[in-house]
Amino acid sequence: MRWWHVADVHALEQDLFTTTAWSLESFWGELARPNRSFFVALEDGRVVGYGGIMVTGADADVQTLGVARGEQGRGTGRALLRALRAEAVEAGATHLLLEVRADNEPAQNLYRSEGFVQIARRARYYQPDDVDALILRATLAG
Ligand SMILES: CC(C)(COP(=O)(O)OP(=O)(O)OC[C@H]1O[C@@H](n2cnc3c(N)ncnc32)[C@H](O)[C@@H]1OP(=O)(O)O)[C@@H](O)C(=O)NCCC(=O)NCCS
Repeated sequence: MRWWHVADVHALEQDLFTTTAWSLESFWGELARPNRSFFVALEDGRVVGYGGIMVTGADADVQTLGVARGEQGRGTGRALLRALRAEAVEAGATHLLLEVRADNEPAQNLYRSEGFVQIARRARYYQPDDVDALILRATLAG
């Protein structure tokens, strides 16, 4: 992700995450911080997906992942997740972690099919929707 993608990524983020969407400033902040790697998926130059990780030593965290509604179900989310995973391995991480809403079945299906397992549950983490967060982790070594 480059600075000229940020406005389009933010528009997608607002559409996908509504009340919990990151602000424009959050994306700018992430791009400026160390230990972050953000990617976009492009279709004819148009941003159709995005994702990012933060790497802190052995652990890498998926910060965000999204695919435009009209483009979902075509393998873009899996490709982005694999790109994030490869980046985490490259940075020396041994585990990749993420948080996902307990009611987000499509995302959970993707993560579990990529080797993520649940390691914790945070009750009522997402407000105001009152939905639990699941903490998932994948082992990167080997
Ligand atoms: C989750 C998300 C990123 C997946 O991206 P995508 O491009 O649609 O996913 P892919 O086409 O790569 O599909 C990968 C797997 O996800 C699962 N999946 C995707 N869409 C699904 C759906 N509607 N219902 C159930 N499972 C689904 C399937 O396991 C699929 O594998 P398969 O095609 O072999 O069945 C996308 O749905 C999205 O942006 N959702 C809204 C934002 C979001 O929830 N982000 C994740 C926050 S943790």
